[in-house]
Amino acid sequence: MNTQIGKSVGEAVRLLRKGELIALPTETVYGLAGNGFVPEVVAKIFVVKNRPFFDPLILHTSSIDKIYSFVKEIPSPLQKLAEKFMPGALTLVLPRLSIVPDLVTNGLDTVAVRIPSHPLAQEVLQKLDFPLAAPSANPFGYISPTTAQHVYDNLKGKIPYILDGGTCNIGIESTIVGIENHKVTVFRKGGISLEQIQDVLKEHVVVRSYSSSNPKAPGMLLQHYAPRKPLKVGNLTELLQHYSTYKVGIMSFCQKIEKVPEEYQFILSSKADLQEATQRFFSGLRYLDAQNIDIILAEFLPEKGLGSAINDRLRRASC
Ligand code: TXA
Ligand code: MG
Repeated sequence: MNTQIGKSVGEAVRLLRKGELIALPTETVYGLAGNGFVPEVVAKIFVVKNRPFFDPLILHTSSIDKIYSFVKEIPSPLQKLAEKFMPGALTLVLPRLSIVPDLVTNGLDTVAVRIPSHPLAQEVLQKLDFPLAAPSANPFGYISPTTAQHVYDNLKGKIPYILDGGTCNIGIESTIVGIENHKVTVFRKGGISLEQIQDVLKEHVVVRSYSSSNPKAPGMLLQHYAPRKPLKVGNLTELLQHYSTYKVGIMSFCQKIEKVPEEYQFILSSKADLQEATQRFFSGLRYLDAQNIDIILAEFLPEKGLGSAINDRLRRASC
């Protein structure tokens, strides 16, 4: 199959209506999108991504009104979050209606729902009368894509069209929030920080974004977002000492490291800005993964705001 990169919303919509998959830009990461109401289309997503069927997908749509065509209700604490952060980098886990295929949710009675704010995603979704099932457009377990080129590098020949919406503004996946045991629970840290969520709810939320084997919410799987090269996370000075006989690549928050060649270093934000660091994070991992090195050494970011979401991904990408 010939894979085209282009900017035509019309072409994207035409293919989606035909039951094809496309790559869709969002402000978090690029999605691998198809008609979320048709099981045969949803099945293709799992095949192209090489993703286990037990890992449920997010349904994307363009407005809160449209959500009600496939969910029963938005429970009141989540309603507050929806008003504040939709459209945006928030995914809500909601009680689903039976129109949602079992394949989307792995048979769960809830479905994950997101309204992206990226203008091209919005344009596409507004034109459709079905939601789009869309996981990140990377092979299962690999680094999420934040440019059209990343998607092309991973999925060329497997999908007909990549809608090019530039570099993703936020750069990491959405924050997933639902209700568990009557408590607002964060299932995955992401582009909306915990602090932002707590600010709106005025209450403490449970964070359960870590689990090695619970297939209920496999975004929680431990080994995830990983480069092909081994990755170690910790104090860079200590790591450099420990791996002194290796050819290393470095991912640092804001400072250059002496003695490591510049092309093997990726600085996330020289002005120590967490937002900039987040936007460049997945590109940085991809850059280092492509270098002629043995191992990637990375350091944790300050454990606050988006830094905490990045640290979570670093922990899971490391071995
Ligand atoms: O930013 C994002 O969320 C991107 C863009 C493309 O929208 N999408 C994304 O999808 O990251 P994906 O498939 O890579 O991650 C979705 C995660 C799954 O791994 C799963 O753990 C969780 O969402 N999920 C889906 N349905 C769920 C449910 N009913 N309950 C709990 N978690 C669910
Ligand atoms: Mg993913």
